[in-house]
Amino acid sequence: MAHRIRPMLSSDKATLHDILNTIPEFSSDDVLVAREVIDNYLRDPAGSGYNVLVAEIEKDVVAYICYGPTPLTKGTWDIYWMATLPEKQGHGIGSDLLGLAESKIVESGGRLIMIETSSRSDYEKALHFHQNHCYEVICRLSDFYAPGDDKLILQKKLGR
Ligand SMILES: CC(C)(COP(=O)(O)OP(=O)(O)OC[C@H]1O[C@@H](n2cnc3c(N)ncnc32)[C@H](O)[C@@H]1OP(=O)(O)O)[C@@H](O)C(=O)NCCC(=O)NCCS
Repeated sequence: MAHRIRPMLSSDKATLHDILNTIPEFSSDDVLVAREVIDNYLRDPAGSGYNVLVAEIEKDVVAYICYGPTPLTKGTWDIYWMATLPEKQGHGIGSDLLGLAESKIVESGGRLIMIETSSRSDYEKALHFHQNHCYEVICRLSDFYAPGDDKLILQKKLGR
C-alpha cells in the first residue's frame, strides 16, 4: 500500500510515542530521549533545531525521521532518530523518509550528514540500512555506550 510523507503535526504525537514503544532495539531510555526530542520539536517547530517528517498509510502514521542542522557547523546535519513500525519495515518507507530528508538538507545548503549508532548486534539491521544508503563508518569510539558497546559515527558527503 502506498505511503505519503509529510511534516509531523502535534496530532501525531501519541502515535509516534506508540511507534517508539514497539521498536525492540530501543531501550526505555532511548524512548525517553526520542520523546523529548519530539516534544521539543512540537513546542517550536521552526526554532527547535529539529525537523520531523512522518510517513502515513491511509492516514495511519507508521514511521518517522528526525533530523536537523548540527549546531556550530556550516552545512553539517544530523539524522537523530528514525523508526518504522516493525510490521511495516522492509517496504521502502525508511528509504523514502531518508531520501526526502536528504533532499531537504541539500535544499538548505547541507553538505555533510552524520549519524551516530551503536555497535550492538541489534542495531546491525540499521547499520546495513545506512551503509546501503552510502553512509560510511568513519569513527568507532570503543566502549562508549557501555563495555563492549561502541559508538559508530557514520557520514555521507552530499553532492557526490
Ligand atoms: C532502520 C529502519 C528505520 C529502516 O526502515 P524501513 O522502513 O524498514 O526501511 P526500508 O524498507 O526502506 O529498508 C529496509 C530494507 O528493506 C529493503 N527494501 C526496501 N524497499 C523494499 C521493498 N519495496 N520491498 C522489500 N524490501 C524492501 C531495503 O533494501 C532495506 O534493506 P537494507 O537495510 O539491507 O538496505 C527500520 O529498520 C527501523 O525502524 N529499525 C529500528 C529502529 C532503528 O534502528 N532506527 C535507526 C536508529 S535511530
